[in-house]
Amino acid sequence: MSFLQKHGIIERNLGLLFILSLLTVLVGGLIEIVPLFYLKNVIEKVEGMRPYTPLELAGRNIYIREGCYVCHSQMIRPFRDEVERYGNYSLAAESMYDRPFQWGSKRTGPDLARVGGRYSDAWHVDHLINPQKVVPESIMPSYAFLASTKLDTKNIEGHLKTNQLLGVPYSEEMIENALADMLAQANPEADGVEDMQVRYPKAASRYFDGNKSELTEMDALVAYMQMLGTLVDFSVYKAEENLR
Ligand code: HEC
Repeated sequence: MSFLQKHGIIERNLGLLFILSLLTVLVGGLIEIVPLFYLKNVIEKVEGMRPYTPLELAGRNIYIREGCYVCHSQMIRPFRDEVERYGNYSLAAESMYDRPFQWGSKRTGPDLARVGGRYSDAWHVDHLINPQKVVPESIMPSYAFLASTKLDTKNIEGHLKTNQLLGVPYSEEMIENALADMLAQANPEADGVEDMQVRYPKAASRYFDGNKSELTEMDALVAYMQMLGTLVDFSVYKAEENLR
C-alpha cells in the first residue's frame, strides 16, 4: 500500500480524521503556547505602571458603557507610521491592569492609547459635549449628557474589589479609601489629595469638567482620558531601535 493509499484511509474515516487533526492542532498549540509561560520577558517589566485610581476606573467604566471602543483602539502597533503619529508603540505591561483590555479592533477615530496630556481638560469637555464644534468634519456622536449626569459613587469599592479578585494589585488600604480617593481626585482643595497621590503616584487632582459644584460622569471620563499612556516614562525607551 502506497503512502497516498494509507492516507486515503484517514480521509475516508471521519472519526479518525477528526481525532488525528485534533492531535496535530494540540501538539502545535502546545509548542507555540507553553514556552510563553516560561519566558521571562513575555511581559517586560516597566517602571511607573500602577492600578487605575478610583476616579479613572469609574471613567473607564463609562468608556466601556458608552462603547467608545467601537470607534477607538488603544493599541499602537510597532510600525513607523503609527509610532510617528501616536507615540511609542504600546507595551504589553501597559494594559496589564486592564480588565477587560481596550485594544479594540476598529479605528473610526484615532487611537487613544496615548491621548493623555495631548489636549486640555476643557478641550475634552467641549469635544465630548459637541465634537463638531471642535473638529467640524468629525462623525463622533455627542456625549453632552455626561456633563449633567452625577457620577454614581456607591459601587466604587466593589469595582476595586472585583479588579483585585482578577489580579490587579489593589491593597486593602486602597479599597477602604476608594470613595475618599475618588472625591479627592476630583477636588484639588480636598484634604485627602496627598494621601491619594501616595497611593496612586502621578495621579492629577483637578476639577476635570470645570464644574466645581458637582461630581459628574464627565469628571471621571476626562480623568481617564488624561492619564492614558502617561504612566510609563518613554524617555528611557528608544522606539526606533526596536522597529523592524
Ligand atoms: C462613531 C464613532 C465614534 C465613537 C462611538 C466615539 N468616537 Fe471619539 N472620535 C471619533 C472620530 C471620527 C474622531 C476624530 C475626529 C474628532 O476629533 O472628533 C474622534 C476623536 C476622539 C478624540 C480625539 C483624539 C485625538 O487624538 O485627536 C477623543 C479623545 C475621543 N474621540 C474620545 C471618545 C470617547 C471618550 C468616546 C466615548 C464616550 C468616543 N470618542 C466615542 C469617532 C468616535
